[in-house]
Amino acid sequence: MPERPPAGQPSLLDPFEIGGVPISNRILLAPLAGIGNWFVRLQAKRYGAGLVVSEMVSSFGLHYGNDKTINELMRIHPDEHPVSMQLFGQEPEAMESGARIAASSGADLIDINMGCPVPKVRKTGAGAELLADPELALELARAAARGSGLPVTVKIRSGLMPGDRSGFDLAIRLVEEAGVAAIGFHPRVAKQGHKGQPDYGMARELSQRIDVPMIISGGLSSADAARDAYDESGADAVMIARGALGYPWVFAELTGQRFEAPEPDEVMNELLWVIDRAEEHMGTDRAGRYLRKFYPWYLDRVDVPKLVRSELCQTAGLERAREIVAGIRDGMPVAV
Ligand SMILES: Cc1cc2nc3c(=O)[nH]c(=O)nc-3n(C[C@H](O)[C@H](O)[C@H](O)COP(=O)(O)O)c2cc1C
Repeated sequence: MPERPPAGQPSLLDPFEIGGVPISNRILLAPLAGIGNWFVRLQAKRYGAGLVVSEMVSSFGLHYGNDKTINELMRIHPDEHPVSMQLFGQEPEAMESGARIAASSGADLIDINMGCPVPKVRKTGAGAELLADPELALELARAAARGSGLPVTVKIRSGLMPGDRSGFDLAIRLVEEAGVAAIGFHPRVAKQGHKGQPDYGMARELSQRIDVPMIISGGLSSADAARDAYDESGADAVMIARGALGYPWVFAELTGQRFEAPEPDEVMNELLWVIDRAEEHMGTDRAGRYLRKFYPWYLDRVDVPKLVRSELCQTAGLERAREIVAGIRDGMPVAV
């Protein structure tokens, strides 16, 4: 293994703080919309993540007391602390009360989404669109701090279009003028979506300009890629996103708890754990439908006949899913 990290940069295993909240290591689970609920976060924690961030939650949904937003998306498991709840929105009053509710639900930190490139979100003025309205972005960060009384962090893109650095400039202002306690920096412009090489050089520049932690996001598809991004960007911490889908072992690899890839039976047992937690979270019927997007992530790690794979990915029945997964685990894929 290469000597890492370079002299001067702490080890990924060293603790750090965000706004006074102690974090046991520098390996974080990134926010993942539609995915990062309490049990996905708990899973990352079980494998060693130092901090987990929720999927983006609508500040309006919280403000107006939407049932699902409050009861499902604000659900926090006692073993997942410290946890950061990510909010999105473009209205300071809703952000203030949303952050208040997130704090009373047990969040340790509030994160604001200023990076979402999805048109449905940008059209409302939220997500990456806030790069075009820096004054509003600052106001939202202050509102979240006022409402929650917690440290507020922001996850932000480098810009909107190729060549645009408005996110870089806004990140500095958020720290200096709104007291933001850390920046999650995704150095791809919104137009790129999740494709293309992130600009770790720009991230390094940002880390030298701000006196709070800079957490690097983007292109961290494996433990090695995360270590490289950490070194290249001079970040204070890394945020694992797609690299964690169906592969919580990435956290164990980064924390040095293990180095070998999981055996198929271990992968399938982990998937059974996920199925049980999803059922507990949203009931049998909804979990059956919801989990169909999870199965391919786990099946990619094992060698499974095509027919078995397609049956699992299409089944909406949890009992059938459990049968198929247990069959794969026991080396006896269930006949289809
Ligand atoms: C399915 C999916 C959902 C995401 N949801 C969010 C989100 O809710 N909030 C956010 O700030 N970023 C979100 N992101 C962006 C990721 O947190 C991360 O910045 C991005 O995937 C780049 O990292 P990667 O290249 O290592 O995957 C999402 C990305 C994906 C692929």
